[in-house]
Amino acid sequence: MEIIHVTAECYPVAKAGGLGDVLGALPKYQVDMGHVARVVMPMYRTKFLYNNQWEVVHKGASNLGSRWFDYTIIREETNKLGFELYLVDINGLLDREKVYGYNDDTERFMSFQIAVVDWISKWEHLPDVLHVHDHHTAMIPFMMQHCFAFRELSGIPSVLTIHNGQYQGQFGWDKSTYIPAWDTWKAGLLEWNGSINPLAAGVKCAWKVTTVSQSYMDELRVMSNGLEPLFEYERGKCTGILNGIDVDVWDPAKDSYLHNHYSVDSVTEGKLTNKKELCETFQLDIDKPLFVFIGRLVGEKAADLLPQAIGDSLYYIGRKMNFLILGSGDPQVEGQLDVMKNISWGDYNVYIGYNEQLSHLMYAGADFLLMPSRVEPCGLNQMYSMRYGTVPVVRKTGGLKDTVIDYGDPGGYGVTFNHAAVGDITEAIYRGVQLYNNREKFREVRKTMMGLDFSWVRSAKEYLDLYKSLK
Ligand code: ADP
Ligand code: GLC
Repeated sequence: MEIIHVTAECYPVAKAGGLGDVLGALPKYQVDMGHVARVVMPMYRTKFLYNNQWEVVHKGASNLGSRWFDYTIIREETNKLGFELYLVDINGLLDREKVYGYNDDTERFMSFQIAVVDWISKWEHLPDVLHVHDHHTAMIPFMMQHCFAFRELSGIPSVLTIHNGQYQGQFGWDKSTYIPAWDTWKAGLLEWNGSINPLAAGVKCAWKVTTVSQSYMDELRVMSNGLEPLFEYERGKCTGILNGIDVDVWDPAKDSYLHNHYSVDSVTEGKLTNKKELCETFQLDIDKPLFVFIGRLVGEKAADLLPQAIGDSLYYIGRKMNFLILGSGDPQVEGQLDVMKNISWGDYNVYIGYNEQLSHLMYAGADFLLMPSRVEPCGLNQMYSMRYGTVPVVRKTGGLKDTVIDYGDPGGYGVTFNHAAVGDITEAIYRGVQLYNNREKFREVRKTMMGLDFSWVRSAKEYLDLYKSLK
């Protein structure tokens, strides 16, 4: 089977969050299962671009409304990532350092999608499935079916995976000319609440829609930033497939970012050595349980609750635990977390920014990982942490609910709580400290978690079954 993934992120080429991790792993597992998987993404100015060899496979031109643009498709020559990787170069639009966050993101991702569809329409054969991810690529199913120039692609089965339904990419009808000449009778497929809504268009037009956990699929029908009735209406073609993790990259026994490797048999000493390194770097106390947070400092992750939850824990539970935060995002939350260093020095520290190596050191060296998320479509952090023997402390939502069982329940190994509220988080931290002090139980929980199988093999198979159902 030939599968084309179209995405804005793919690790290690460019990653802003879990979407990158998924696209760096799933295609590799699909290739291992004997299929052809290709990833097509924008050519940003990244280190990966400059450090690898590329061949030009296609040059074309198209237009975004009245603006003409040339595009070039390049391919990484050695299939270094375990699958074929193609980058789309559009001068002046895609060749930036960051993935998102520019005022002209609509123009950037629309021109990217147009270039991809235009290029595929020139192929001599049709792929078996086109798999698009999130709103940046969700206009493609519409374009393949209703843009006059691309109609020969309308028979290609399309799958849209929603990694994050909060962002939908809406733009005004004044920009409808961005879409290459299309059948205006189909305007209803683009429309949602008075705007063109790429995610809604994707849900309406893709042959199948998936989300990255079953619970998130259920939640979208009641809370999806305005798309609730659409998810209810389209529920017949929607399913949840839980993400996996790349167990080659995320393995404490051979993780290239770690200085001290360990496995399930050496977890107690192995984690202690990593914790020591972390505590020395951040002036924390190795004898106290270490709670960490790694992630985007945004409302979805409930990062705004961290300052008070940490402050309350240190005050009410007493200075029985330490905290270390790694993240970037909302400047106000960044500022609050930074200022707390002055108040809670010795019990708390923070690194504002993105740091891949530090994240690995933290998964390895921490005792607990906090994830109080308001919304968590799947969440990879909790799966990484479990593989590294770090107990997840999570709110029961989306993928967190589907992957973590409370240690108080039969067969459980994590700490779970119900509400994204300071009181619930503080209480969960308290329960974490209790678990830590029960050394025997703590050791048992660590071993159980490290033995869990979150590899991509199962999920990759579920995607293949889904593709096959479309033939
Ligand atoms: P999301 O995609 O919503 O941000 P996920 O849990 O799916 O959440 O994935 C987050 C990924 O990004 C993980 O690989 C995590 O380790 C990484 N990450 C998030 N913030 C940072 C950061 N500041 N530094 C390093 N890695 C980070
Ligand atoms: C999104 C979600 C996250 C998920 C990731 C990969 O960024 O917020 O929960 O794990 O995509 O699917």
